[in-house]
Amino acid sequence: MHLAVVACGDRLEETLIMLKSAVLFSNRRLCFHIFAEDSLKPEFEKKLREWPSSYTKKFEYNIYPITFSVGNAQEWKKLFKPCAAQRLFLPVILKDVDSLLYVDTDVLFLRPIDDIWHILKEFNSTQLAAMAPEHEIPKIGWYSRFARHPYYGTTGVNSGVMLMNLTRIRNTQFKNSMIPSGLTWEEMLYPLYQKYKNYITWGDQDLLNIIFYFNPECLYVFPCQWNYRPDHCMYGSNCKGAEEEGVSILHGNRGVYHDDKQPTFKALYEVIRDFPFEDNLFQSLYYPLQSKFLDTVHTLCGRIPQVFLKQIEKTMKKVYENRRVFT
Ligand SMILES: *[C@@H]1O[C@H](CO)[C@@H](O)[C@H](O)[C@H]1NC(C)=O
Ligand SMILES: *[C@@H]1O[C@H](CO)[C@@H](O)[C@H](O)[C@H]1NC(C)=O
Repeated sequence: MHLAVVACGDRLEETLIMLKSAVLFSNRRLCFHIFAEDSLKPEFEKKLREWPSSYTKKFEYNIYPITFSVGNAQEWKKLFKPCAAQRLFLPVILKDVDSLLYVDTDVLFLRPIDDIWHILKEFNSTQLAAMAPEHEIPKIGWYSRFARHPYYGTTGVNSGVMLMNLTRIRNTQFKNSMIPSGLTWEEMLYPLYQKYKNYITWGDQDLLNIIFYFNPECLYVFPCQWNYRPDHCMYGSNCKGAEEEGVSILHGNRGVYHDDKQPTFKALYEVIRDFPFEDNLFQSLYYPLQSKFLDTVHTLCGRIPQVFLKQIEKTMKKVYENRRVFT
C-alpha cells in the first residue's frame, strides 16, 4: 500500500505522527513517498531511524525533493502554500506506482489503511480518484457560498485525503474548458492553472475541484468519516457516517493540533505523539485519551467522544487479536 505526503516548513513533527499512526494500526506492508524540502530530508531520516524495528520492518520509504514538471516552479510554489501543488504532480513523478493514498500532514489514521485501500477496488471503470465532500451542509459550505470557479457537486470535495489510481490518471483524456478534444493530466495542469489562477483561493484543491467538475464520472466520493475535520462537529455534529461507525481518518486542518480551539483534535494528536512505540495500546493510548477527553466537554466536538473513540476501540481490539494469532 502506497502512502504519499508533502511536507514543507514546520510540518516535520506532524508528518512523523501521521506516519506513526499509519504504521500503528495498519496490517499490510506500507511504502511511504515523502516529498520534502531538501533541508528536512536528513531530519526525516534521523527520526525514522530512531523508531523501533517492530515499526520499521512494516514499511519502506523514499524521500523526494519538491519538483514541478510543467510550468514555472516559482509560480506553483506560490499557489496557496509553498508545496501544496506538489500533489498534483504525483501521477507524473511516481511513474512506477499504480495507486496511492495521498494525505495532508495533519491527518491521523484511527484504523488500518488496509480499509481505505479497499475502496480502490470499488471503483467502476471510469473512476480514478476518491475524495470526501468538502462539507456536509451546502448552506454553510465554503464553495457553495464563495467559490468563483466551477467545483465538484453541491459542496466541492476536500483533497486532504485522496485515493488515486495513478495508472488510470496517466491514461485518461480529461474534458476541460480549454480544448474540446480533451487533455492528459500532465498537459492539462498548467493551462488550467493559468486560466483560473485569479479565481482560486485554496490552491490545488480548487484545481482538483475544477477538474472533477468537468469529469464527474472519474470521481468516487467516500463519506465524511474518512476525512473528518473540525467542520464536522464545531457547529454541531453533521457527519452521519462518523456518528454511526466512528471517525476512521481524522484531519486536523486549521492548525487545530497546535492551538487550543479544538481540544478533542489536539488530544488525539498528543496521545499518538506521546505513545511509547511498543507499550500497551489500552494503557498508554486509550486511557490517556479518555481522560483528556474529559477536559473537552465544554466544546461541541468534545460532547461526542464516542464518535472519536469508536474506530480506535475496534482497531485496538483487532491489533491484539492479530498479535495473539501471529506472535
Ligand atoms: C488501477 O487501474 C488499472 C487500470 O484500470 C488497474 O489495472 C489496476 O488494477 C487499478 N489499481 C487498483 C489498486 O485497483
Ligand atoms: C461510475 O460512477 C460515477 C459516479 O457515480 C458515475 O458518474 C459514472 O457514470 C460511473 N461510470 C460507469 C462506467 O458506470
